[in-house]
Amino acid sequence: MKSLFLQYRKSILSTTALLSVFAIIGALMVGLTYISTADDIRRNEELQLLKQLNTIVPAELYNNDLLSDTITIKPNTLLGTSEDTLAYRARKDGKPVAAVFSSIAPNGYNGAIHILVGVFYDGRIAGVRVVKHHETPGLGDAVDASRSDWILGFNNKSLDNPKEKLWKVKRDGGVFDQFTGATITPRAVVKAVYNALLYFNENREKLFASNGKAAGEKTADTPPISKSESSEAGNSKPGKATLEQQSHD
Ligand SMILES: Cc1cc2nc3c(=O)[nH]c(=O)nc-3n(C[C@H](O)[C@H](O)[C@H](O)COP(=O)(O)O)c2cc1C
Repeated sequence: MKSLFLQYRKSILSTTALLSVFAIIGALMVGLTYISTADDIRRNEELQLLKQLNTIVPAELYNNDLLSDTITIKPNTLLGTSEDTLAYRARKDGKPVAAVFSSIAPNGYNGAIHILVGVFYDGRIAGVRVVKHHETPGLGDAVDASRSDWILGFNNKSLDNPKEKLWKVKRDGGVFDQFTGATITPRAVVKAVYNALLYFNENREKLFASNGKAAGEKTADTPPISKSESSEAGNSKPGKATLEQQSHD
């Protein structure tokens, strides 16, 4: 009886040891696969982001490293943001060309509509893209560039073109088309884009300013740019920095 028990215990122990070895080998393989693919995944994500940014600011218009030349924008009421976001700065031979930054239209038909807004240094819109939304397919989703060309109607518009009172959908007396049976979504996007232009207008120099680091250089802790530090964008060197929080209540 005792020897049967000992034999049984031995067999459990050896099975447990075998399973443990397999578990360790499995975990090691998962870990190794993660390590070997993490760089590829990151590179692919960066490529996707760059591709999206280049639909707004074409690559031939700038020659800096767009993905590295960023500035952190603190939550801002004009942008509808409640978290830090990044602005990507395009420059040609060091001179500012355009900035691309995030904005949120809070009042879509089905909630928030997340957009990317690109603005040339002279204040004209380089392009707008909806990057996330929950609008109804076949109705409000025409704001998405993959569904219609409506969003391209913002290209080259600025705070003065059209005048402020025309920054509305046609049904409200403005110049922007609405969609048949769906005015709420385009109305929300038009307002968000206008507010993004107001934000750009108020922060242009700070948006293109930097902390003096070269483009692409990693900065772990970047202090916020204060008003006194903000310099003429045309003379500033690219890099990473932070825009302070602003309230527009
Ligand atoms: C099921 C359903 C989904 C809708 N989805 C949207 C939408 O995504 N975007 C939108 O603007 N309007 C949507 N509408 C229509 C709005 O309720 C509203 O009637 C419309 O935006 C007003 O535009 P109009 O003044 O051109 O009719 C939806 C309506 C229904 C019944």
